[in-house]
Amino acid sequence: MYLPHLIGLTIAGTSLTMAACPPRIEDGIKAGDDLARWAQDSINAFVPFQDGWQEGFDVAFSTDVHATFNATVFTFDTFKTAYEGFYQLLNGGFAGTFEHGFLSAVGVPNAADNGGFVTVTGWQAGYIGGAGGRLINTTDAAFVVIAETENCERKIVEFRETSNLGRF
Ligand SMILES: *[C@@H]1O[C@H](CO)[C@@H](O)[C@H](O)[C@H]1NC(C)=O
Ligand SMILES: *[C@@H]1O[C@H](CO)[C@@H](O)[C@H](O)[C@H]1NC(C)=O
Repeated sequence: MYLPHLIGLTIAGTSLTMAACPPRIEDGIKAGDDLARWAQDSINAFVPFQDGWQEGFDVAFSTDVHATFNATVFTFDTFKTAYEGFYQLLNGGFAGTFEHGFLSAVGVPNAADNGGFVTVTGWQAGYIGGAGGRLINTTDAAFVVIAETENCERKIVEFRETSNLGRF
C-alpha cells in the first residue's frame, strides 16, 4: 500500500525540482559556448597554483566525481590530495611564475538541461625556480562531464585530465 504512494510522491517531487530550474539556452551553439565558459572559469578557479584554489575545487566538483589524471583514477578526496601536491610543485617549484591558458574549448550542451560536455586544451608554463630560470611550456587537456543538480547548479561529475607537465 505504501509503495505506490511513495513512487507518486517521488515523481511529483522530481517534476517540481525540474520545473524550478531555469531552462537551457535555446540556441544549441550559444548553450555550448556558455557551458564551455563555465568550465574554463571553474578550471581557472581550481588550478592549484594560487591561494584559494580549494574553494574553487569544492564549488566545481561533485562529491562523487569520477576523476582521472593520466592513467590514475581518483575520487573527490584523493583528487584534492593530489592537487595539494601539485600546488607545492606549481607554486613552489616555479616560485610565482606559473601561468596557464586555454588553446581551445568545445562545449556540447545536454538536450534538456544546463549540463553537458566540454573538451578543453591548454598550456601550462613557468620558469623553474622563478624568474631567470629555464622556461617550461607544455600542453594539457581535459574532458569534462557537467551535470545540472537538483539545486539547479552545475557540478563536474567526470573529469579526465592529461598533462605533459612532468616532474622537473
Ligand atoms: C606558452 O605557449 C602558449 C602557446 O604557444 C603561449 O600562448 C603562451 O604565451 C606561452 N607561455 C609562456 C609563459 O611563454
Ligand atoms: C602525466 O604524464 C606525463 C607524460 O608521461 C608526465 O610527464 C606527467 O608527470 C604525468 N603527470 C601525472 C600527474 O601523472
